[in-house]
Amino acid sequence: MDNKEIDETRQGEVLERKSSSHTGKKLFLESYGCAMNFSDSEIVASILEKDGFITTRNQEEADVILINTCSIRDKAETTVLNRLKSFKKQKKQNPSLVVGVLGCMAERMKETLLEQQKLVDVVVGPDAYRDLPNLITKVNGGQKAVNVLLSREETYADISPIKLGGNGVTAFVSIMRGCDNMCSFCVVPFTRGRERSRNPLSIVAEVRELFENGYREVTLLGQNVNSYRWNISKKGEILDANIPTTNFAQLLELVAQVNPDMRVRYSTSHPKDMGDDVLISMSKYENICDYIHLPVQSGNSDILKKMNRGYTREWYLNRIAAIKRILPDCFISTDIITGFCGETEQQHQDTVSLIKEVKYEYSYMFFYSERPKTLAERKYEDDIPEDIKKQRLSEIIEIQNKLSLDAYKKCIGKTYRVLIEGISKKSDAELYGRNSQNSVVIFEKGDHKKGEYVNVKINDCTKATLFGEVV
Ligand code: 5AD
Ligand code: SF4
Repeated sequence: MDNKEIDETRQGEVLERKSSSHTGKKLFLESYGCAMNFSDSEIVASILEKDGFITTRNQEEADVILINTCSIRDKAETTVLNRLKSFKKQKKQNPSLVVGVLGCMAERMKETLLEQQKLVDVVVGPDAYRDLPNLITKVNGGQKAVNVLLSREETYADISPIKLGGNGVTAFVSIMRGCDNMCSFCVVPFTRGRERSRNPLSIVAEVRELFENGYREVTLLGQNVNSYRWNISKKGEILDANIPTTNFAQLLELVAQVNPDMRVRYSTSHPKDMGDDVLISMSKYENICDYIHLPVQSGNSDILKKMNRGYTREWYLNRIAAIKRILPDCFISTDIITGFCGETEQQHQDTVSLIKEVKYEYSYMFFYSERPKTLAERKYEDDIPEDIKKQRLSEIIEIQNKLSLDAYKKCIGKTYRVLIEGISKKSDAELYGRNSQNSVVIFEKGDHKKGEYVNVKINDCTKATLFGEVV
C-alpha cells in the first residue's frame, strides 16, 4: 500500500502511554506494519481509556491483549500468527485473559483466527474500533466477538488519539482512511475499505493541540494523500455550496499555518495524483518538509499497467522532473516490488535504469508476495521463482545503497536545520534528529534538548546517517 511505513514496516512495537493515574483494567497493545496502524492504535487506546482501561508494557499483567496487524505481505501475517500462538500459555494460566486482533488481518482471517486456530476471542476491523468496549464485554460474557464491518464514513475525526510511547516531538495525524486505487498486488482496499477524507477543521485542531503540547512535527497520513478532498465529489463537483472545499495542497497549507515551528510531512503520495499544486504549496512554506515518498513499484510501463497503477514510466519521470524543478533541495524516496507476475529480466532492468536515473536518496524494496483476493491473484500467475525475485531484490538493494551513500556524501559541508527527537541510541552524549529532507542527523548533545531546532554542519556520513556539529 502506499500508506508508507514512514520508516519501513515496523515489527511489533508495544505501545504504552507515558504516564497515567488510572487504576483500571490493563490493556497490552502491540502494533505491526504501517504508520496508519500505529496511529490507529492511539485511537484504540483513547476509546478504551474512556472505558476504564490503562495501557501497560507488561504483557503478563494484562487483562486484554490487542495486536494491531498487517496483511501487506505474507511475511507480515506469519509474524503475527506466531505472536498470537505465543499467548496460548498465558491464556491457559489466566482463562479470563482476552486476546484480540485489530487491523488488516481482522477482515482477512477472522474465521481462521477464531475458529480453526482458536487463537483469539475478539476480531475487530479498522473501521469498527468504536465497538471495542462492547465487544470486550461480550467476550467477558463468554462469547466470541467479531466486527469487521467496513464503513464509508468512519474517520474517527472526533476522537483525540492518546500518544503512546512516542518521542513527544513527532506525531502522526491521520487525514483519510481506505483506498480506492485497486493496485492489482495490494490487499489494502479489501482490508481497509473505501477511501474517505477527514474534516479539515478537525485535522487542524488536532495539529494545533499537538503544537500546544510540545510536538514540533506532524506527518499527515493516508493511503493516497493526493486524493484528499473535503466537500468535493470524486468527479470534482462541490457538494455543499455553503462549506469551503479543501484539496490536499490546501490542507497542507492550512496545517503549515498552524505555526512556522510545526514541521509538516506527509505520506504517502500516488504518482498519478501528484499535481504541481502540492509541490507549489510545499515551496511556499519553509515548514513543509523537503521530502517526498513517491512509490514507483516498477520502472516498466507494461508491468505498471498490470499493476493497475494508472501511470507510465514517462509520466512518473515527468513527476520527478517537476519535483526537482519546483523543489530543488527535495529528497525523494520510493517503494519497489521485484518479481511481479510475468516480469521479464528486461522489464526488471527497466526498474534498475529508473532507479539510476532518479537517483533516489532512499528506497523501500520488496519482492512480490501474492495476496488472496487481489486482482493479481485472480488474473495473473505468480510465476517468477522466489530465488529470482530475491536475486532481483538484492540487485536493486545494492544499487540503492550506493545511491544513498552518494547522496549523503553530498551533504558533507552543508548546514541543516535539525529538529531534535532524542538521545542517540549509541551514546548518551549525543542527540539525534532529522533535517527537512528526513535524513537522520547525529551530533554532540551540549546543552540542547529534545524538541529544539539546531543548525548542524555535516562532517561525516554512512549510507543511512549524517554526523555533524551544532553551529
Ligand atoms: N507484495 C510485495 N510488496 C507489496 N507492497 C504492497 N503489496 C505488496 C505485495 N503484495 C509494497 C508496495 C507498497 C508498500 C507499502 O508495500 O511497494 O507501496
Ligand atoms: Fe497504495 Fe495502491 Fe495499495 Fe492503495 S491499492 S494502498 S494506492 S498500493
